[in-house]
Amino acid sequence: MLRKVASEIVDIDEKLVKLSDDMLTTMYAEPGIGLAAPQIGVQRRMFVYDVGEGPQTIINPVINESDGEWAYMEGCLSVPDLSFEIVRPKQVLVSGRDLDGNEVSVEADELLARLIQHELDHLNGVLLIDHLEDDERKQALKTLRERYIDHDLNTPVFKRSAASKASGGLQLP
Ligand code: CO
Repeated sequence: MLRKVASEIVDIDEKLVKLSDDMLTTMYAEPGIGLAAPQIGVQRRMFVYDVGEGPQTIINPVINESDGEWAYMEGCLSVPDLSFEIVRPKQVLVSGRDLDGNEVSVEADELLARLIQHELDHLNGVLLIDHLEDDERKQALKTLRERYIDHDLNTPVFKRSAASKASGGLQLP
């Protein structure tokens, strides 16, 4: 899901307002400061954010200009509890539409600029680990595997069935 390119939004309607509300609820609950639609399983080009100035929604966002370089420890709700120092442009100018269908453009610097670039990546199926050097990415994937894959389920099936027989049944963790 998170690897797909989300599609352009054509109709800005009630349904989209509802989607935006759902995304904001999810974002605040995590808590996070930004959330893209694909993160809740919806392949549409929209993201929400709040950097302390109230909730915002941008539809069909496009980065028109970017400038500078800025290193920042970046995390992601879809890659929990891991953050990485990633260098990206420091400032961006993004345009898109709001929930009323009006054209909006946002000049963003530092944290907001970072957030916008991160969420736009999600709309293009790009995750933060894709920005890492090879070695760092391998290490991150290893950490994620160790953390999330049940080692028991990794044991080859024949070994598990032998163990099950020996103990007289399947022991669930
Ligand atoms: Co993210």
